[in-house]
Amino acid sequence: MAPCLDLPYDIRTVTPDEDKIIKKCLTGYTRSFVKCGKNEYVMPGVFRKHAHAIYNLQVRPDDVWVITFPRSGTTWTQELVWLVQNNLDFAAAKQKPLYERFPMLETTIQIPEIAFELIKANFMNLKNFQGLGHAVKTPSWKIIEDQTSPRFVKTHMPLSLLPPGLLKTAKVIYVARDPRDVAVSYFYLHKMVMKNLMRSNFVAFWEAFRRDLLPWAPIVAHTNEAWLKRHEPNLHFVFYEDLIKDLPKEIRKICKFLGKEYTDEQLDRLSAHLSFDSLRKTKTVNNSTGEKEDDIQFIRKGEAGGWKAHFTKEMEMQAEEFLLDRLRGLDLSYPSFPTRETTHL
Ligand code: A3P
Repeated sequence: MAPCLDLPYDIRTVTPDEDKIIKKCLTGYTRSFVKCGKNEYVMPGVFRKHAHAIYNLQVRPDDVWVITFPRSGTTWTQELVWLVQNNLDFAAAKQKPLYERFPMLETTIQIPEIAFELIKANFMNLKNFQGLGHAVKTPSWKIIEDQTSPRFVKTHMPLSLLPPGLLKTAKVIYVARDPRDVAVSYFYLHKMVMKNLMRSNFVAFWEAFRRDLLPWAPIVAHTNEAWLKRHEPNLHFVFYEDLIKDLPKEIRKICKFLGKEYTDEQLDRLSAHLSFDSLRKTKTVNNSTGEKEDDIQFIRKGEAGGWKAHFTKEMEMQAEEFLLDRLRGLDLSYPSFPTRETTHL
């Protein structure tokens, strides 16, 4: 038995004003949100109940973890990693939804309290979107704890809230994305899940985003934690924009990181499978809640720079300010917002 570690960070309730801003964007949360640690990561209030178990989860040497801020290309990378680790067994991948092959550590925590109760009482069925049904019955970290090896773990939690031995023990792939594209994509995710219960428009959502008042925020600190560890042998850091630019090249890098070798032909097939159009059609991966083709899809647009169509001039300036402020003094720089060589102001 490994020793039971106390949390090295504090968890405190956000201010009533902050809670209001968050809840303007999210529906169904009754508890107050909390902020964790010195980076003030925002989490639903129920996180208090699970933080300790998550921090103490036993990491295994043959685990592979994909860590991201939400909407950064997690699903894309999970399917890639799962196939690379499973000898490109496309048939097996088609048999089981990705959320079962590669479950998320904190699903239970992200379910709004009202939805949790409705799902539990069988009054709500999101077609088991992202495994929510299972995560109501059993805490999602427990599902992972009980899995047989080799395990695949998805999480949006930053490194500092995760088990401290993670990078010394398991292989981790961190995917980062331009926060402006994340903001747009995150908004559409909520719209897809909440449908007409979604009360906020993009303007309100952006206000919360740029104040770092959404679950798992602040995004830049989240990414910076991984960026600082990018030279550790068990961490592979990749930008979404690089996956878009040259997927085959990034697949090769990930294969090398995972110690897997495939022929050019096999890699071509993998790239084709992982293309936006193909993955969008793959039911086990594009886990959308809509029935119709024109409903918002989980795999939605797949663009780098698509944010430009959603931002007014004022929002664009706010975004520049946000990025410059959060990146100030950091070594981290986004390929689409290169602060280290040149500034955009
Ligand atoms: P958009 O909403 O901008 O389209 P996550 O899996 O972390 O939630 O990330 C979802 C984002 O990744 C969505 O962004 C989705 O479309 C994009 N994505 C998923 N698969 C992709 C692919 N094959 N090519 C490009 N983007 C992809």
